[in-house]
Amino acid sequence: MSLSIKILPSLLAADFGKLEAGARLAELSGADELHIDIMDGHFVPNLSMGPDVVEMSRRSVKIPLSVHLMVTSPEQMIARFAKAGASTIFVHVEEAVTCDKQGLLKLIAELGVRPGITLNPETEAEAVFPYIGQASEILCMTVHPGYGGQDFIESVLPKIRTIRERLNSDKLETDIMVDGGINMKTAALCAASGANSFVAGTALYGLSDMKAGISDMRIAAERARR
Ligand code: DX5
Ligand code: ZN
Repeated sequence: MSLSIKILPSLLAADFGKLEAGARLAELSGADELHIDIMDGHFVPNLSMGPDVVEMSRRSVKIPLSVHLMVTSPEQMIARFAKAGASTIFVHVEEAVTCDKQGLLKLIAELGVRPGITLNPETEAEAVFPYIGQASEILCMTVHPGYGGQDFIESVLPKIRTIRERLNSDKLETDIMVDGGINMKTAALCAASGANSFVAGTALYGLSDMKAGISDMRIAAERARR
């Protein structure tokens, strides 16, 4: 059995004057989930959204909400994002946390949320190996986190393959997500390397027809992994 392809528009690329409409557009266009980027100005230099935007999205759409924490103290915020309606919460493996990462992922699961672990482009695959049994999803950043609209970093591709091979050898059917610079072409490259879940901000919100864009990206990913 192969994992289904998932396409997730990133709300960071929506018009911040019309965020609710941006969330609805993703759902109406056939998105599998909505990706919401949380930045605290410390872990990454930028500031973005908080739990109120997650809560607004939960009221506005029915699709799962994928919450990507780029913050220095995720342990202090997880309960708030779970209460706000997050379906998956991603923490970065690079974050310094006061509790251990295993404890953090356990806490997310105990709150009824899927736990996800994220690696920056330069972080080696081995960094997430201690957590792969606990994570429902592994997010390989394909840009340096903090901003939308950056260029895809192709050197991440072998790492995606290494993680998929490790999951296969452990007989784990875990989603591998990619995030940053994802478009039709780079989604195909990532799918061929073992990713099945694709976050795209600029490439989808920049289109006049997001529905066609999601459908084309899905087809490109399906073809590439055969
Ligand atoms: C970057 C964020 C991404 C961002 C992707 O730190 O994690 O989710 O929205 O934007 P694009 O698709 O424009 O590279
Ligand atoms: Zn993200």
